[in-house]
Amino acid sequence: MEAIARAHTNIALIKYWGKRDSKLFLPMNSSLSITLDHFYTETKVQFSDQFEKDSLVLDGNQVSDQEIGKITTFLNHVRNIAGTKTFATVTSVNHVPTAAGFASSASGYAALAAAASKALQLDLSGTELSALARQGSGSASRSIFGGFVEWQKGEKTDGTDSFATQIIDEQAWDVTVLSVVVEAGPKSVSSRDGMQRTVDTSPFYDGWLATIEEDLKGIKEAIKARDFTQLGEIAEANALKMHATMLGAKPPFLYWQSATFDVMQKVMELRQQGIEAYFTIDAGPNVKVLCEPKNEQIIKEKFAALPSVRDVIVCHPGPGIEYLSEWNG
Ligand code: ADP
Ligand code: DP6
Ligand code: CO
Repeated sequence: MEAIARAHTNIALIKYWGKRDSKLFLPMNSSLSITLDHFYTETKVQFSDQFEKDSLVLDGNQVSDQEIGKITTFLNHVRNIAGTKTFATVTSVNHVPTAAGFASSASGYAALAAAASKALQLDLSGTELSALARQGSGSASRSIFGGFVEWQKGEKTDGTDSFATQIIDEQAWDVTVLSVVVEAGPKSVSSRDGMQRTVDTSPFYDGWLATIEEDLKGIKEAIKARDFTQLGEIAEANALKMHATMLGAKPPFLYWQSATFDVMQKVMELRQQGIEAYFTIDAGPNVKVLCEPKNEQIIKEKFAALPSVRDVIVCHPGPGIEYLSEWNG
């Protein structure tokens, strides 16, 4: 009745932005990401008839009742599959800043889905586990797998065809993702609220949806051909399009800070100098810079030298779900 799992975060190159069903976490569009080796969550789940409610200790702290509510809603999905009503104690450690645009919800819910389903001895396939993790946070569906991963939006209304699959594993193509930290504090608009507001109010949202299939096709061709230039160009343009939809929302919002611009401009400047790099940005001010491993050291130094940059963390494609026999937390 107890299990421990580790899941890594992921960075989307084609972004998930908007839900068609917010209860089932069904997305408006398919998305594609790289699982990252550096950032991860470890979660232990224990089910026992002794517990009178669910609890979560995250990074050593008891969380708010609202957070417990989210965990209970999620664990109810797992309990339904297992046919049990037993409560759980969840202990989790984020080796990633929480709610700051580093995708802690992806590693957090992927680890929770894996540990909870294993603790209840559910023998879920990768696909089933992905669909389960999706119902905690959409991006978590992709963190079940390592390497380059696509989350198919699916067509069904019950969500059974909305899950992620691996395109190539973490050994198959080494691309560097520099995580350029300008601000590690919590964001003011969560991904969840930001995408909902955009779907509901932004006149630019239809334009976003209209180009997704083309972006996906192009980036999958790039992955197949190991074409870094095509990968980077499509990823950067896709991220800019996502952020553009927010400027049309009512009320409008923007995750960027002046330091975000500093990093974006530096990337463009490097390209002009013949050093190939591309950026992508999630729902937060921090920037992820894509480059080839042979250039990572020199590019890292360029960003570390910017006064508004606090840290640069070098990431590479990382693994999918791992089960641990001992708790190190
Ligand atoms: P981000 O994914 O960029 O960190 P989000 O706003 O998408 O930010 O999600 C943050 C939320 O994810 C947290 O407020 C919390 O509800 C949930 N979360 C983060 N880490 C964990 C974890 N280890 N276990 C369970 N839930 C988590
Ligand atoms: C901009 O998965 O955090 O990072 O499903 O509401 O939990 P919920 O949102 P979340 O959204 C991620 C949005 C994004 C793009 C992406 O990761 O694809
Ligand atoms: Co998130």
